[in-house]
Amino acid sequence: MISVKLDHVSKMFGTVKGVEDIDIHIRSGEFFTFLGPSGCGKTTTLRMIAGFYYPTEGRIMFGEQDVTYLPPNKRNIGMVFQNYALFPHLTVFENVAFGLQVRKQSKQEIKEKVDRALKLVHLDGYGNRRIDQLSGGQQQRVALARALVIEPQILLLDEPLSNLDAKLREETRVEIKRLQLELGVTTIYVTHDQAEAMAMSDRIMVMKNGVIQQVGTPQEIYNRPNNEFVASFIGESNLLEGIVEEIHDQQIRVRFSSDWVLTGLQENVAPKTTLTKGEKVKISIRPESIREAKTEENGENIVRGKVALSEFTGVSVNYITQIGELQLKSMFINLGNRVYQRGEELALSIPKESVYFLG
Ligand SMILES: Nc1ncnc2c1ncn2[C@@H]1O[C@H](COP(=O)(O)OP(=O)(O)O)[C@@H](O)[C@H]1O
Ligand SMILES: [Mg+2]
Repeated sequence: MISVKLDHVSKMFGTVKGVEDIDIHIRSGEFFTFLGPSGCGKTTTLRMIAGFYYPTEGRIMFGEQDVTYLPPNKRNIGMVFQNYALFPHLTVFENVAFGLQVRKQSKQEIKEKVDRALKLVHLDGYGNRRIDQLSGGQQQRVALARALVIEPQILLLDEPLSNLDAKLREETRVEIKRLQLELGVTTIYVTHDQAEAMAMSDRIMVMKNGVIQQVGTPQEIYNRPNNEFVASFIGESNLLEGIVEEIHDQQIRVRFSSDWVLTGLQENVAPKTTLTKGEKVKISIRPESIREAKTEENGENIVRGKVALSEFTGVSVNYITQIGELQLKSMFINLGNRVYQRGEELALSIPKESVYFLG
């Protein structure tokens, strides 16, 4: 296993910017994810690590070795693509064996390694099948076996689940995670699906327009987003704009246009952000952090409004509540409480700890 370092890496395609100043250190054995919308530069970054593109600027290190301009076949990486990229006219065995044959290993050695790789992805006994006799999920597992059979130091996966249906996607997600833990291989995973990234990763790099927005654990990027983009891209959030009315005693009070006020804690100001009294501020409140208040309850951070949307999902009850001209999304775990209907009055309590200041 090996660490991967991108040292201020940029890539231009003529005058089109692929990525800009990517500076990250992926630890040995880590499950690291590039997350962001389509076109943000995930594949470009991954292809530079694989050696299919060379950076315009910066260096790439595997451990102590500078691999910036090393060709792909000298890098000892396994790669899995979204479209599997299997040879349709070859058998499962032949597809998986391909990388070993290129490396001129003995027949006996190849058979042992392919059998082991197929076992690893739960496809033992499928060696003689043709690729077109397999389901999408099985094809993706062949692609995984093919990447793993060469015993790579680094496993690169570019949106490997996006061609699978929802149920299979979840199963394969668990499989990939299990394999990675079992083998301990440094894994770099690309996805635009934030739930997938959150569930699988040790750390996530959130990207937008070729630029890093935040690097952190799933908890860090969810609970302490650096900016509005991260707060809205990861999970659901209420984004509200108000005016800072007072900063006092580690607390911040914000007034909104419809004349309600909220108090939050100074420790919940996003990194690199300073707030000034009288200025505009964006705040983020997660729907699941809001509580139902008692009808007669009054006090700080309790707001009332009319239910505009009431949605019972079984697991939760979701509301959109109209408060003056603002709408607030809330999500309560279903504990058998009464479900409010559209038009009813609902009192909500917003804990101070859950008011997050984006600046
Ligand atoms: N071979 C290429 N030639 C020109 N532009 C490219 C090429 N590959 C990617 N780009 C551009 O670089 C940007 C990042 O693309 P990409 O890395 O494929 O994004 P993602 O994988 O996040 O969807 C996009 O604007 C894309 O159009
Ligand atoms: Mg891509």
